[in-house]
Amino acid sequence: MLITWWYLYFSARSIVLQSFKMASVVQKLIAPLFTGPPEPPANKVTVVGVGQVGMACAVSILLRELADELALVDVAEDRLKGEAMDLQHGSLFLKTKVVADKDYSVTANSRIVVVTAGVRQQEGESRLNLVQRNVNIFKHIIPQIVKYSPRCIIVVVSNPVDVLTYVTWKLSGLPKHRVIGSGTNLDSARFRFLVADKLGIHTSSLHGWILGEHGDSSVPVWSGTNVAGVNLQMLNPNIGTDSDEENWKETHKMVVQRYRSLFLTFSPVTWKQQQL
Ligand SMILES: NC(=O)c1ccc[n+]([C@@H]2O[C@H](COP(=O)([O-])OP(=O)(O)OC[C@H]3O[C@@H](n4cnc5c(N)ncnc54)[C@H](O)[C@@H]3O)[C@@H](O)[C@H]2O)c1
Repeated sequence: MLITWWYLYFSARSIVLQSFKMASVVQKLIAPLFTGPPEPPANKVTVVGVGQVGMACAVSILLRELADELALVDVAEDRLKGEAMDLQHGSLFLKTKVVADKDYSVTANSRIVVVTAGVRQQEGESRLNLVQRNVNIFKHIIPQIVKYSPRCIIVVVSNPVDVLTYVTWKLSGLPKHRVIGSGTNLDSARFRFLVADKLGIHTSSLHGWILGEHGDSSVPVWSGTNVAGVNLQMLNPNIGTDSDEENWKETHKMVVQRYRSLFLTFSPVTWKQQQL
């Protein structure tokens, strides 16, 4: 009887020791108490397109700690891999998990999806042609976004932004309050800087807006441009007009010129595969 007990004890002991030896480091380190599927992220943001604008969005989201998970998507796999790796290697300084893939399943459960993907206008190409090329791209992107994150808000940045925002609304089938275009936000920010700079004050002290369509046909609202409530048009009734001797109109011209140059310039890809 005693021999049987000893035999059972040593057999069980050796099985436990054996399985402990076979377990991986992670199995030895962490014993999960909950074995169900992982909780989806609560504040996930996706950025589609990891070009200059997409990466600027991604870095801003990370540094402001807006999301618990950030997903990146792009058709250019090498660029996507490189950009994602750069961010992941900086995770020591971040609170957000960064994931990336060409497949849109990586975007699942996003609350906000920022679309910066698209092609640029070629020298001599009409805007109409560019619209068609980008609409074709959006026909692929938008259904994928909605499939994996049907409750998300889509923020459109790609140009021509106002047209593509409308296209996104139509393609997505989402209610209109869940499709937002960046509109003239950038134009207004540039305008506020340029006017403030000319006045020698900080940008945040100058209030003003550019309305209408983002780009060439945008309209500066001089009647509402003010510093601490002091209206600039009251100080210079000709402000922004051709008869204005101080030529304030130039500030809006510079905003539009910057838009045009951005539209046409080629953006170099800074990451190269051989640098990995
Ligand atoms: N709304 C604004 O205020 C504003 C300001 C600046 C730029 N933009 C626009 O933002 C867009 C991006 O500018 P950028 O400088 O980052 O351009 P970019 O060329 O550097 O990047 C575009 C990215 O889109 C990716 N892409 C192309 N087709 C795709 C697809 N089908 N799916 C996923 N990704 C795809 C490309 O691979 C590339 O990485 C442009 O349309 C630009 O005109 C808008």
